[in-house]
Amino acid sequence: MAEWPEATYALVDMHTVKAIYPGTFDPLTNGHLDLIARGAKIVDELVVAILRNTEKETPLFTVPEREEMLIEATRDFRNVSVMTFDGLLVDFARAQGAKAVLRGIRAISDYEYELQMAMMNRKLDPEVETLFMMPAEKYTYVSSRLIKGVFRLGGDVSSLVPPLVVERLKAKVPTPA
Ligand code: PNS
Repeated sequence: MAEWPEATYALVDMHTVKAIYPGTFDPLTNGHLDLIARGAKIVDELVVAILRNTEKETPLFTVPEREEMLIEATRDFRNVSVMTFDGLLVDFARAQGAKAVLRGIRAISDYEYELQMAMMNRKLDPEVETLFMMPAEKYTYVSSRLIKGVFRLGGDVSSLVPPLVVERLKAKVPTPA
């Protein structure tokens, strides 16, 4: 009988891969959507998970608003769902039966923060793997924070976020006359 490397047995034994794509999504950007599309091609099930109690600055959009936008923007992906979570990400992943966390890395500057989080999550639960993917080059400078800042000052963000987000921004943010 042929001798197969151990990794091959792991592949043969592979079952459905479910991953969590966590974040604040305040608001969703085309960079997030690009990553969702890439992730959905690789894993069987992708759960986009919005953190409810962020330690960051007060969010512009409420959790239900962010959830609505994500549901609408991801409706064509058959294996993508949207949820919210609180507490530790690894606890949520375990409760969902997910073995992986998906995160995007846009530039080297993201790497240190992402590495810290991935290592902390591994320490908390060694069974949960972090998968890093890179968004399309054209979105490497796009962040929710920059989108909000530019929009507030009257800048055009329509090629950087889905149209439904532009509409929500217009309804929420007073722009300069
Ligand atoms: O979009 P963001 O704000 O970069 O996402 C950060 C997020 C939600 C992934 C991170 O803050 C998180 O996982 N929070 C949950 C709390 C947790 O598990 N902390 C320990 C890991 S560092």
